[in-house]
Formats: sequence, C-alpha cells, structure tokens
Amino acid sequence: MTKIIKPKMMDYHRQILVCIGDRCTENGSGQALYDQLKDKFKAAGLHEGALRVKKTRATCFGTCKSGPLLCIQPDGIWYYDVTSKKLDRIINEHLINNKPVLEWVYYQK
Ligand code: FES
Repeated sequence: MTKIIKPKMMDYHRQILVCIGDRCTENGSGQALYDQLKDKFKAAGLHEGALRVKKTRATCFGTCKSGPLLCIQPDGIWYYDVTSKKLDRIINEHLINNKPVLEWVYYQK
C-alpha cells in the first residue's frame, strides 16, 4: 500500500514557467534557458526571500512559435524569443523592479 505524503513547497513571490518543448524552439534552447535560471536567480537574490521566484518547466504552452517562451505568474505576462541577454533584462526590470519588458511580451492578461 502506497503511503500518501503531502508535498511541501517553499513560499514564493512569482513563478516563471519556461517551455522546453521542441515545437517553439530548436536545439533545446528552451531547456538551455531554463538551466541558466538557477545561477541567474542566485546572483540576483531571487532564489530565496521575499522576491523568491519559483522555476517550472513545461512541455508546451500551446503557442508554438518564436521560442524560447517564458510566462511570469501571477502577472500573466508571456515573453517570446528570450535569449540569455534578454533574460538578464527581464530579471532586472520585471522580476526585481516590477516593470515588464513590454517589447518582448506576446500576451498580457
Ligand atoms: S512547444 Fe513550446 S509552446 Fe508549444
């Protein structure tokens, strides 16, 4: 008989979802972008504390064009064509200073 254990999760301020599917990107660039988050968040102080951002991978957002694609929740902001350099700006302007980088947003709730 399997014992059911309630999962635990650290508190977070925002969640970032990265599509790692192969219909919006080529050559695993979504996964490669996801793999950078740990170090970038640590450097920016977003890995813990009041501004902690929870990282999540998804296999498809259903908007399979011009990836890598990111979604920031609960803000309802969806970014396209995100490079490592663009991610640095999204971290600094959106995740730290609460100003989404509108020129790379493809949908906003
Ligand atoms: S595979 Fe990335 S949005 Fe569909």
